[in-house]
Amino acid sequence: MATSAKVVLITGCSSGIGLATAILLAKDENQRFSVYATVRNKRNAEELETEAKDLLGKTLFIKELDVTSVALINEVVDEIIGARGRIDVLVNNAGIGLFGAIETIPVEKIKAVLATNVYGPINLTKKVIETWKKDTFGHIVMISCVAGLIGIPFNSVYSASKFALEGFTEALVSEYKDKNLRVSIIEPGPVKTNFIESVTENSSQLCQLTNIDQQTKETMNLFIDKSNARIITMGQTPEDIAEYVFRAVTGSCQQLRYQTNKVYSTAIEQKLNDRTGWSSYDIIQKYI
Ligand SMILES: NC(=O)c1ccc[n+]([C@@H]2O[C@H](COP(=O)([O-])OP(=O)(O)OC[C@H]3O[C@@H](n4cnc5c(N)ncnc54)[C@H](OP(=O)(O)O)[C@@H]3O)[C@@H](O)[C@H]2O)c1
Repeated sequence: MATSAKVVLITGCSSGIGLATAILLAKDENQRFSVYATVRNKRNAEELETEAKDLLGKTLFIKELDVTSVALINEVVDEIIGARGRIDVLVNNAGIGLFGAIETIPVEKIKAVLATNVYGPINLTKKVIETWKKDTFGHIVMISCVAGLIGIPFNSVYSASKFALEGFTEALVSEYKDKNLRVSIIEPGPVKTNFIESVTENSSQLCQLTNIDQQTKETMNLFIDKSNARIITMGQTPEDIAEYVFRAVTGSCQQLRYQTNKVYSTAIEQKLNDRTGWSSYDIIQKYI
């Protein structure tokens, strides 16, 4: 590995987009990256360990990091700084979803989504930026979602978390405009990962626990069926999304935002051009 290799910290690498990104960067033929692929729990690192077999200890290192723990964030960042002296790129990928009519969702579940999708990336970004010296050229990559730009029904809490992430990240661009900080926000539409499965399972459990009215339940179930169908027809692969991260961190493409699915780019453009705000509703009826 080249000594000039950029030190990259990625969260949520046990599966999906995080795993694909960690492997793609660690396999770079020019060895430009030294990847710290973090997982919430090492027990879930089997797939990563298998896929990274030839890279382990060379260009890829696995660490345990639950992003909801500030103590662990401090520990892991300090450990990497101790070993490597710097973190050049942070990819905030770890995230959880939550399907359901808001009335069915217990407050604890809402808190868990915000803890993982909002406080986690904010606390980790803060900690990593604190380690940067004046001459550091640092790069923060956020894995957001179309749901961070358009409010998605029965995903209100998830949408809220990604809207928050978008606002936080956008603010950093101007805050650090005179420093060497680059920021990229990746905004995928549906992606074929474990994400939707785990979210759907969670929501049907919630429905069983509450007295949700029949009409809301039917609308929600229809929405979930359509979402699952959309994943099959329009869903990108985690590797597709990893390519966008790769292009952002290699500098081969320098945008603030990367909308990975053109269908949704058109919808977002339509929303931004409508001052009445109603087009979000129309878009949802059309695309969702
Ligand atoms: N799939 C989609 O359709 C889609 C679309 C747009 C954006 N996204 C975003 O893409 C990101 C990755 O999701 P994915 O689709 O790749 O789903 P995924 O395969 O379910 O991956 C989510 C990852 O986040 C990890 N994670 C969850 N809570 C964590 C915590 N507290 N600390 C550390 N890691 C944690 C999971 O670890 P465990 O294995 O331990 O649970 C897993 O590695 C998320 O931010 C998601 O919002 C997904």
